[in-house]
Amino acid sequence: MSTPNYSLVNDATGEKIELPAVSGTLGPVGLDVGKVYGKSGVFTYDPGFSSTCSTQSSITYIDGDEGVLLYRGHPVDQLAQHCSFVEVAYLILHGELPNAAQLEDFDQNIRRHTMINESLKGFFGGFRYDAHPMAMLTGVVGSLSAFYHDTTNNKDPRHREIFAHRMIAKIPTIAAAAYKRYVGQPFMYPQNHLDYCSNLLHMMFAVPAEPYHVDPVAAKALDVLFILHADHEQNASTSTVRMAGSTGCNPYAAIASGIAALWGPAHGGANEAVLKMLGEIGDVSQVQGFMDKVKDKNSGVRLMGFGHRVYKNFDPRATIIREHCHKVLKHLGKENDPQLELAMKLEEIALSDDYFRERKLYPNVDFYSGIIYKALGIPVNMFTPMFAIARTVGWVAHWIEMISDPTMRIARPRQVYTGAPLRDVSPIAQR
Ligand code: ACO
Repeated sequence: MSTPNYSLVNDATGEKIELPAVSGTLGPVGLDVGKVYGKSGVFTYDPGFSSTCSTQSSITYIDGDEGVLLYRGHPVDQLAQHCSFVEVAYLILHGELPNAAQLEDFDQNIRRHTMINESLKGFFGGFRYDAHPMAMLTGVVGSLSAFYHDTTNNKDPRHREIFAHRMIAKIPTIAAAAYKRYVGQPFMYPQNHLDYCSNLLHMMFAVPAEPYHVDPVAAKALDVLFILHADHEQNASTSTVRMAGSTGCNPYAAIASGIAALWGPAHGGANEAVLKMLGEIGDVSQVQGFMDKVKDKNSGVRLMGFGHRVYKNFDPRATIIREHCHKVLKHLGKENDPQLELAMKLEEIALSDDYFRERKLYPNVDFYSGIIYKALGIPVNMFTPMFAIARTVGWVAHWIEMISDPTMRIARPRQVYTGAPLRDVSPIAQR
């Protein structure tokens, strides 16, 4: 297929600048505007990056109009149906699904790296008892930068691989430790005979005083949720990891910056915000009044868990998770949960309301994930850490893709300056 030519024309002078098209395997071409400033003295302007590609990437593909999400070419619904989270992690990192031997090797590597340095446990004690687990996660993951001096050469593929194993293996241990600090219980060491999600549930909910048996349905539910959250191309937190990483900083520090970005309610913090919103609405009788507030621009109220920058038809993850949500609640005997009923009512009203239809606002993945987490007994302030555990795989893969690219440059956007023009400094007595 031939790629059309694009150019920018200066209307005053007629001067034309050719914009080479950068083609991928799927999706729209990107116009290379990198030389626009050098050739014309003007910048391109796109706050919020609605039309701007920051990179080429072969990890994840999204078609927002068709509701398509592919990891390394594989549809996410097929992956959720046939694979484990660790298998999907291998795919996202390596580009191909593993065979049985490769999976066994990778899985063992992840299991072997689950413990954290004993002195790292002391970091949690430095936080106030009621610190948000995301604050602890950001701080403690950043502090991993101070531990692994043996593998700090970002240019060495083996160092990058060890970082990937350590990061993916330790993030559940750190998240569970943050939870234990929050509830005031002793930390539970990882049990390496357990699979990834069973181990996480064990570290969160077991106590040394009595045996704890992981519910396999709960572990499977988490595994599916983690697959759906594992990567999402250049979202805000992944772009943050890439931007920080482009300076050549320690990779654990880059991941910590991604965790900080994920926390916001417009991004990964939405799952927590959905449950808070449901709590504030109270019951089904209050839904219409709440919807009126959402539609009133002056109220500043948004329907959390609705809308997405890229998906303008439906979020394929939400479709899978919605179905899953009903199954899990049924298994746990919680299908008559009043918050689920409330969420379904909100969804029904929003989907038939012109305000939402005109703006193409549909439920996103986080509209349902919080309901499942809640049913599994996971407290609301741990919802976003759960997302962070899963997304660590994507962050690591994007960091490796970026840092291995010999053409990588530091990410350094420009601006349109709107401040005061040049002016002199007057001595303080004259001001
Ligand atoms: N409730 C009510 N109105 C909304 C919502 C919402 N959740 N989302 C968007 N709108 C409205 C906006 O007010 C705007 O209306 P206008 O055109 O009349 O001014 C229009 O829809 C477009 O919204 P933008 O804010 O421009 O869309 P943007 O792409 O910048 O934002 C976002 C996307 C941040 C996800 C937004 O939809 C939102 O805040 N949703 C709620 C938070 C949420 O669920 N975030 C999770 C995202 S998924 C994830 O990170 C895993």
